Amino acid sequence: VDPRRHSITALAASLFRAVHTRRDQPALLDDPYGDRLVTDAERALMLERLLLVVSPTDRRRIETITDLARAVDAAIQAGPAYGAVVVRARWAEDRLARALARGVRQYVLVGAGMDTFALRAPALEPALQIFEVDHPATQAMKQERFAHAGLRLPANVHFVAANLEQESVADALSRAAYRPRELAFFACLGITPYLTRETNLAMLGAAARCAPAGSELVFDYLDQDAFAPDRASEETKRLAAERAQTEEPWVSGFDPRALADDLAHVGLTLDEDLDPARVAARYLANRSDGLRIAAAHWRLAAAHVT
Ligand SMILES: C[S@@+](CC[C@H](N)C(=O)[O-])C[C@H]1O[C@@H](n2cnc3c(N)ncnc32)[C@H](O)[C@@H]1O
Repeated sequence: VDPRRHSITALAASLFRAVHTRRDQPALLDDPYGDRLVTDAERALMLERLLLVVSPTDRRRIETITDLARAVDAAIQAGPAYGAVVVRARWAEDRLARALARGVRQYVLVGAGMDTFALRAPALEPALQIFEVDHPATQAMKQERFAHAGLRLPANVHFVAANLEQESVADALSRAAYRPRELAFFACLGITPYLTRETNLAMLGAAARCAPAGSELVFDYLDQDAFAPDRASEETKRLAAERAQTEEPWVSGFDPRALADDLAHVGLTLDEDLDPARVAARYLANRSDGLRIAAAHWRLAAAHVT
């Protein structure tokens, strides 16, 4: 990530959730805000990029749609990352709800992007403290976009600016009202592919170091095969090639067979590691709207501090 630039993928993910809220039935999330955060110029840019990653058949179909907003919606729904972006938020918030029921009162979003949980759960203010850790450029953009859209984040949201390539989550949180002796729930969604393996392990380890045993962490990741041209799926190769042309290229994944050991080395115990088929079975069974997980190498992992 170029430190001078805010994240376009964060805006795209928020638009994906808004499209899902508007168009899929039943919606797994009620998160319409992305529609108000993304400019027309950015939608046009996203359409151009999505046309590089959808299947050739979808591309031909979408190219016949003349209305920009409709074409963007169609391209988002046909894009390989769509289902994963929607479902990972549902999954993380389901696990968060269980953690809250057990008494966790700190929610740390690492690479928070345009996340709107605080807006959608006003009843949790002030019991829950929410810490949004992200790149300063993305946070500045978020504050500007929210203000422009008339969205006011409640007072339990704390912005913690950090470039995780240069500073640990623990050091960043030490500047905030975060309490390292109290249980916390960490969500690192949509961020691990953009960081090196070393930075990812440092990020996960730093979270484990600044939270007591029993604290939880969820993240999504790409399995190593996504980076092996002879094993990666066609749509993953298209996505990786598209990402490689941008400021936010994919740089690393994890080997699912080694994940439990990788996490154990940084103080975490793996609780759950779901492949796309298991995620789909849990969240997308019996739907008639076609919402699916098309991202073949994408997985969800949950762990707790040992
Ligand atoms: C794909 S977005 C995901 C945002 C959000 N978690 C979601 O699911 O919608 C990736 C986020 O990671 C952040 N990010 C990427 N590299 C980072 C770094 N080195 N330091 C801090 N944040 C970073 C970006 O600014 C962006 O907000």
